[in-house]
Amino acid sequence: MSFRGSRFLTTKSHEITRKKPKKNQVLQLNKIYKENCIETLHRMPDEFVDMTITSPPYDDLREYNGYHFPVEEIAASLFHKTKTGGVVIWVVADRTVNGDETLTSFEHAFAFRKAGFKVHDTMLYVKNNPIPSDCGRRYRQAFEYMFCFAKGSPKTFNPLTEPTKSAGQKIKAFRITEAGRGNVPDEDIGRQIKTERKVSNIFSYNVGTSSSGDKIAFKHPAIFPEKLVEDQISTWTDPDDIVYDCFMGSGTTAKVAHLLKRQWLGSEISAEYVEISRKRLEPYLDKLNIPPRNDNF
Ligand SMILES: C[S@@+](CC[C@H](N)C(=O)[O-])C[C@H]1O[C@@H](n2cnc3c(N)ncnc32)[C@H](O)[C@@H]1O
Repeated sequence: MSFRGSRFLTTKSHEITRKKPKKNQVLQLNKIYKENCIETLHRMPDEFVDMTITSPPYDDLREYNGYHFPVEEIAASLFHKTKTGGVVIWVVADRTVNGDETLTSFEHAFAFRKAGFKVHDTMLYVKNNPIPSDCGRRYRQAFEYMFCFAKGSPKTFNPLTEPTKSAGQKIKAFRITEAGRGNVPDEDIGRQIKTERKVSNIFSYNVGTSSSGDKIAFKHPAIFPEKLVEDQISTWTDPDDIVYDCFMGSGTTAKVAHLLKRQWLGSEISAEYVEISRKRLEPYLDKLNIPPRNDNF
């Protein structure tokens, strides 16, 4: 059963509850729920999270202790639980079966669109050091999709920027065609080039041991690079916003959200992985003065 609105929040304790709380209708922030994310989502108020960042199990690529998930149901639930203007960053790739890519990533994207989200941006997560493998008559697989699904227009956008090479110089028309001056509007010609510009939507990261300093995290088979999570959370949220990860795995989202002073919560169906998260997060939670242990985590 779901319930709506901030009137149910008791913000001081970070406890979310109905006015007359009943058993199993309480959610807490800064906690990993050891359960199927469908259950956590059902207990969440509508319009609750500012952002979800997650990497689902897909194509039975890894066993993850045998758990699977229904994408349509999760997309629909996430739509209701995401605030208007909130986003979901969904990191996913495809498997090749009998020489044919599954395109599961795109099936997921269509499921999110059907649920009501806009496909705001199809970004790429490129691996600087992909696992060495012989891909036959294909190039080495080195990226995953990072879909940004938005509920309406994103309410927060703090873009990552990089220095421009020609800072301070004047904008010139770079291509003159019969139809006009390329795609530089006339009014921009002659203006000074800014010192910084938005980075592209292709983000590259090292994977493997350099992607986190927490050795214990690697007991999980597929962790996010911490920098990927940092870049996405800082782009789409502000401090104190609520970040959710429905497939929390080793706890990367929880750790990074804490360090960036966001509120967070997560679901992870495997007790073994929740235990990895607990051990991984304990030093950081202590530092941030948040009680590290409770029923689930
Ligand atoms: C790709 S891993 C996520 C790894 C994570 N991003 C990290 O940095 O460690 C996917 C996780 O989803 C969990 N899982 C699978 N089905 C689930 C479900 N229905 N609800 C919650 N967790 C689930 C698996 O146990 C696995 O740990």
